[in-house]
Amino acid sequence: MDILAPAKINLTLRILGKRADGYHELESVMQMLTLADRLTITDAETLHFTCSDPALATAENLVVRAAKRLRLHSAIPRGAHIHLDKVIPTQAGLGGGSSDAAAALLALNEFWELRLPMEALAGMAAELGSDVPFFLDGPTAVVRGRGEYIAPVARAAECHVVLAKPATGLSTAEVYARLAAPPLPATGSAVVPATEAMVTALASGNPTAIARALINDMQSAAFALLPELDRLSERMLQQGCLAVLLCGSGSTLFGICPNERIARHAALDLTNDSPWTWAGPWMTAR
Ligand code: C5P
Repeated sequence: MDILAPAKINLTLRILGKRADGYHELESVMQMLTLADRLTITDAETLHFTCSDPALATAENLVVRAAKRLRLHSAIPRGAHIHLDKVIPTQAGLGGGSSDAAAALLALNEFWELRLPMEALAGMAAELGSDVPFFLDGPTAVVRGRGEYIAPVARAAECHVVLAKPATGLSTAEVYARLAAPPLPATGSAVVPATEAMVTALASGNPTAIARALINDMQSAAFALLPELDRLSERMLQQGCLAVLLCGSGSTLFGICPNERIARHAALDLTNDSPWTWAGPWMTAR
């Protein structure tokens, strides 16, 4: 059995405050890309995991943790060989590890014929990581809480993006620590206008409107940790991007492009400034 694990970008990311448990309450419009890892599952007596990147083939990998969590929940001592073909860069803010975990939950639920409902998978997903629940859903959704509340957004028009990642990655925990966000107000979080603006822009399908509605509250903290992001962002704008934003907690930047030709051209030209680039449309249906 084969399953794709798509990358994501955050079209908006507002940090509402720091919670008592140390996590940050956020509101984000998340969008899947056509860039994806691939998981292949075959029969095996025990649980066995391999990866195209040997450095990631450890018991700590979220794919292994997802498989073990699912096996524990269902109390079925089944085995499987899971191979992960890694395409999405790590420490990139593209949600690759989280997406792999969600794909493992979805695929093994079928492969082991567990027939667990989505709510059960969503509970396990939230335990595995803040971004994992989104990847059970998508391709476009408003995400709230620390990532566990998902409200799908009606079909968004296709849009072409270009990605560029510096050689250095960023740790999510480190960027969050840099935010120095105020404690979450006791009254709870206010309605976030950025979300509404983005949902309206997505409905218009106009790349310029989408570009105007982009916002990421983690960007200045990431730029402070990795100053070369400033120059890379400038280069992307020079290449014809309508706007450039940090992907999640970084270190990848994405640019909204007016069309496919400009996105492809930018990805080629940016190879001089960045060791990893990608161009393509975002995902409009799963
Ligand atoms: O949930 P996950 O393990 O992906 O989060 C990694 C780290 O990022 C957490 O340990 C926490 O420091 C930070 N984080 C946060 N608020 C969130 C999500 C993550 O502070 N909503």
